[in-house]
Amino acid sequence: MESSELAGKHLVLGLTGGIACYKIAELTRLLIKAGASMQIVMTDAATQFITPVTMQALSGRPVYTSQWDARMPHIDLAREADAIVIAPASTDFLAKIAHGMCDYLLSTLCIARDCPLLVVPAMNRQMWQNPATQRNVAQIRADGIEVLGPDSGSQACGEVGDGRMIEPEAAFEAICAFFQPKLLRGQRVLITAGPTFEPLDPVRGITNRSSGKMGFALARAAAQAGADVHLVAGPVSLPTPWGVYREDVQTAQQMHDAVMHATPDADIFIAVAAVADWRVDHVSEQKIKKIPGATQPSFNFVENPDILASVAKLPNPPYCVGFAAESGDLNVHGEEKRKRKKVPLLIGNLGPLTFGRDDNEVVLFEDSGATPLPRADKRQLARTLIAEIAKRAPKTGGPLLS
Ligand code: CTP
Repeated sequence: MESSELAGKHLVLGLTGGIACYKIAELTRLLIKAGASMQIVMTDAATQFITPVTMQALSGRPVYTSQWDARMPHIDLAREADAIVIAPASTDFLAKIAHGMCDYLLSTLCIARDCPLLVVPAMNRQMWQNPATQRNVAQIRADGIEVLGPDSGSQACGEVGDGRMIEPEAAFEAICAFFQPKLLRGQRVLITAGPTFEPLDPVRGITNRSSGKMGFALARAAAQAGADVHLVAGPVSLPTPWGVYREDVQTAQQMHDAVMHATPDADIFIAVAAVADWRVDHVSEQKIKKIPGATQPSFNFVENPDILASVAKLPNPPYCVGFAAESGDLNVHGEEKRKRKKVPLLIGNLGPLTFGRDDNEVVLFEDSGATPLPRADKRQLARTLIAEIAKRAPKTGGPLLS
């Protein structure tokens, strides 16, 4: 999905020596694509793993490698940046910044900075576990430096354990999240997303065209805003947003049960899923066969639980937000649905104009009236909606319908 969420941000990206340098080409590409401008700085050791030529081509600017490249680059580079990101950050480099050492350009830059510093460690598992490294990391965190990762898994040296660099996509997501205002810090947000799948037999079922993109974008935006996010997802093939806890379900009943189980721990509930209203009363154990001359199959339907309405009528509900996908007359159906579901805020859109698309246009329905929001890509819209929800939701949850 194209987005310009880092437009206007200038990053200094520093590479130190390590095999994970190969991941930084992709990270740079993602940051540039998101609109960031980038200044790459490399240590001598980093240039052994990936060439400055590659990094210059990807970032579109000459790469700095030495203190003596230009007049006072450590001051100028640090002053221009909105943040400095060190990726990969080696054991040695973590030790340097923990102790305030400035013996080459990148470490000097970190000491001379007046902007935030993020480090993305990458090293062998024993180097990571070494008490000296752990002491340095604790000191770095105490100094207000963001430490992103490391991951656990197989390492270039053939060993398995903690220390490998988080993937470039994860580092990108963490950097994007870093720049977002923490409007929901400490809030617990429960979100449903995607369609449900109601089986007819072992191979067939009833579903709908919801892609899950809007719900996943809201989960991402809520996590970026500092919330603790639990996403209950129907069958979709979307990656889990960074920092979000995801639970996969198939049917409306499973989604209902997962939500009712999680609701006591939620301050805000956002129901984005396109839940099937009906399921068949009897799912055939065998595939329904087409027998020549036999009558066509028929099904009896029973109504699925209304998840949003069930949560909203709990004695002490979280702040409930509904979505409505209509095929016409949005203003009439949106407000009617909000009242029927007894929720303080309902976000309405026209389903056929949004399903599967990367952008969306919505109207907010609440007691005070209807407010249309301009069409925007789903990620941007998600951030706007999270800001609107954060304005309205009380910090502690509780009954809100007036
Ligand atoms: N919803 C739900 N459980 C259901 C049906 C809907 O939680 N069984 C939620 C959706 O997640 C959404 C809101 O209710 O937040 C409205 O969903 P929508 O499908 O538009 O409304 P319905 O209640 O199904 O009404 P209708 O199909 O008649 O338009």
